[in-house]
Amino acid sequence: MFKKLALAATLALTSVSGAYAAGDEGHVVNYDFSFEGPFGTYDQAQLQRGLQVYTQVCKSCHGLQYVPLRTLHDDGGVGFSEDQVRAYAEQNYEVFDAELDDYRPAKPVDHFPANTGAGAPDLSVIAKGRAGFHGPYGLGINQFFKGMGGAEYLASLLAGYTGEEKEEAGAFLYENTAFPGGWISMAPPLYGDDVEYSDGTEATIEQEAQDVAAFLMWAAEPKMMARKQAGFVGVIFLTILSVLLYLTNKRIWAPIKARAKD
Ligand code: HEC
Repeated sequence: MFKKLALAATLALTSVSGAYAAGDEGHVVNYDFSFEGPFGTYDQAQLQRGLQVYTQVCKSCHGLQYVPLRTLHDDGGVGFSEDQVRAYAEQNYEVFDAELDDYRPAKPVDHFPANTGAGAPDLSVIAKGRAGFHGPYGLGINQFFKGMGGAEYLASLLAGYTGEEKEEAGAFLYENTAFPGGWISMAPPLYGDDVEYSDGTEATIEQEAQDVAAFLMWAAEPKMMARKQAGFVGVIFLTILSVLLYLTNKRIWAPIKARAKD
């Protein structure tokens, strides 16, 4: 019986580690993001810089079709004023209006447009759809300590190009140290100084990569702070409830315990 169990466990472990070895995990840097940890919050200035990188660099290939433009006004996020959202939508996007049967400048009620032209994935939820950390042995312990690492993966990917490229079956592939398998079909989108930050931050590749990764994390989970807050309130509530229940329990059993003593 025990032998059988031990064998099953070894088999499970070897098959899991085998899958990881074969998959050739990319290298992901454990960047420090402001929104990490139980009390972490988004850095508004960073989200605005990330939005700028998305707008000026990524949006030509990638859509964000599940993100409503009006959420740029939400608290805890990018924090644009309503006027800024209106201006941003109008100046950067055109959407097809079925009523007009024509394109018109986007309004805050619209979503960021989809963009499927370049065969690039939509980025609305990519920060939650990718994990930077795995294992060991599929146990998820690294994720428990370092977080899922979606934003770390994105930043590492954007800053992870080696400059090598090759042509395979008519397609160009670019070597990337973070991409599983090592070769990605997205040409390096960032070279440094791709945008000029209005807050004076130097636009190095790493800076731009982390800013746009933080912005995409916000896009994928705009209510992260509310979630953490609700969790924290829940823990406090349960702690107080436990103390009260402990005291109630003591009180209820007190007469019986007293009787048992004599
Ligand atoms: C010239 C077009 C183009 C631009 C500009 C571009 N991308 Fe991409 N991107 C692609 C393509 C094509 C893929 C699919 C690559 C693949 O699967 O091999 C991709 C894939 C991705 C992925 C998915 C990687 C994965 O794990 O599957 C992410 C994340 C990403 N891009 C982020 C960005 C960000 C952020 C920017 C802006 C800084 C950007 N891209 C700019 C074309 C582009």
